[in-house]
Amino acid sequence: MRRRVDESKRSEEKSVKKTVNKVQTRSSWWVWVKRALIAIGTLYVATPFVLRFFPSVIQYLVYKHAIIYFVDLSRPSDLGLNHTVNMYLTSEAGVTLGVWHTVPEQKWKEAQGKSLEWYEQSLGDGSPVFIYFHGNTGSRAAPHRVGVANVLSSLGYHAVVMDYRGFGDSTGEPTQPGLITDALYLYQWVRARSKDSPVILWGHSLGTAVSTGISVILQEQGNPVDAVILEGAFTTGKLKKGQPHPFMWYYWRFPYIQYYFSLDSIEANVLYLPNTDNLKKMTTPLMILHSKDDHMAPFWMAEELYSIAKNALKSEDKVRLVAFDASHGYLHNGLYRDPALPNIIREFVESVAK
Ligand SMILES: *[C@@H]1O[C@H](CO)[C@@H](O)[C@H](O)[C@H]1NC(C)=O
Repeated sequence: MRRRVDESKRSEEKSVKKTVNKVQTRSSWWVWVKRALIAIGTLYVATPFVLRFFPSVIQYLVYKHAIIYFVDLSRPSDLGLNHTVNMYLTSEAGVTLGVWHTVPEQKWKEAQGKSLEWYEQSLGDGSPVFIYFHGNTGSRAAPHRVGVANVLSSLGYHAVVMDYRGFGDSTGEPTQPGLITDALYLYQWVRARSKDSPVILWGHSLGTAVSTGISVILQEQGNPVDAVILEGAFTTGKLKKGQPHPFMWYYWRFPYIQYYFSLDSIEANVLYLPNTDNLKKMTTPLMILHSKDDHMAPFWMAEELYSIAKNALKSEDKVRLVAFDASHGYLHNGLYRDPALPNIIREFVESVAK
């Protein structure tokens, strides 16, 4: 009898505790939601002002390299890249770069369990080699980057994808000259192993400026790259008056804020993307891929770059602009999904290899 009373008492206590717990959980949950909403609102309003008065923050925002993806970059096979090796290269003292090398898809079985040396030697197997320079956020594991590597590999090409200094698991801090140093280093590293295979650069977004930047340098050194593909390319950071900065698209509903976000400090250094100047000098065969609904780099930028490149190359054959219809919804990152893309790339590579 005694025991039973005890038990019922205990269960009563338990249920009271449970209710209290529930109320506490709910109220603390609500407090956090409120806090988050206030934080987001404050951030949204304050950002343009912070950027205006503390331009160095822009460096951080532009490169957004610190965004962490919960991916183990040393294991590309986790993302389905089962014929990819992860490696580290040192572009200069103190700067270690994380790099993935994906071999042509037909080699996936042969590639299982192979060493770094095997991958390195495979670069000289006669298949075209692509070096991919990515855009301003995250790491080489971002889905649209893996997507491009998969397309290239399925076409029978090598894809070498690097995280610049400060991105992914690469060490150092990103700066514009630093990115160029890293890209040049990777290019020379690949070139030293690729024998007679064509080496083609694929730049996306911020990476387009890296691609055209090293193309000009290599051309001036007398060793031009074989071809360049630019995806979602920007014109210079210098914008027309009244033109919102492409990285500010999330303020598009508030032109007043966009206007207040003076472009002076952006132009000054960090966000100088000199594609326009570079294309005026480049004589490298070029393909510009651009989605008409690109919300970061509006389509007119691609048209402007195309006409500059045509003038510089004095040839319609060596430069092409491929537009992807807005109805696909590819925006800035998604055109790797286009079913026509593999053929477009193959044709371009064949025209270059001729
Ligand atoms: C490995 O990758 C290739 C190419 O993407 C794919 O065709 C194959 O099915 C994959 N194999 C395994 C075991 O996941």
